[in-house]
Amino acid sequence: NLTNMSNEQTFIAIKPDGVQRGLIGDIISRFEKRGYKLAAMKLVSPSKEHLETHYEDLSDKPFYKGLVTYMLSGPICAMVWEGRDAVKTGRTLLGATNPLASAPGTIRGDYAIDVGRNVCHGSDAVESAKKEIALWFSKDEVLQYKLAQHDWIY
Ligand code: TYD
Repeated sequence: NLTNMSNEQTFIAIKPDGVQRGLIGDIISRFEKRGYKLAAMKLVSPSKEHLETHYEDLSDKPFYKGLVTYMLSGPICAMVWEGRDAVKTGRTLLGATNPLASAPGTIRGDYAIDVGRNVCHGSDAVESAKKEIALWFSKDEVLQYKLAQHDWIY
């Protein structure tokens, strides 16, 4: 049903702790199984400047410096996931920012206990998703293709 389709995209990243702990496969699996389509993916070690730009809205926060240092501590798995309500539902799959408040069954609620090591990132609004996707990916890295499975999901 085409009218029920959505091309909403969100930027999801597996932070250095998630990569080191071997959680990439599990996290991808959760998005796949929920019904989202992977539109872009790469393992990257971004520069300090890139990460400062990514988190520039938080630059006045006391945890900002530590946050950037943490994000620089190893490779990050950067992804774009697409589908209906991808931004909001993506955040639901991740769980609350502070893992102590994240419900069991969410990624953070299953795998984390420290806000400074909370495994994953997800865009918090459609506008920030657009900004983040443009920051992390070039246009040709974000693929448009039909996923046959979606005929069974929508
Ligand atoms: P924020 O954008 O508020 O949360 P979210 O990642 O859920 O959108 O904060 C960005 C990251 O900063 C967050 O994932 C973990 C880190 N952080 C801290 O280390 N300490 C804190 O008190 C907060 C609020 C966030």
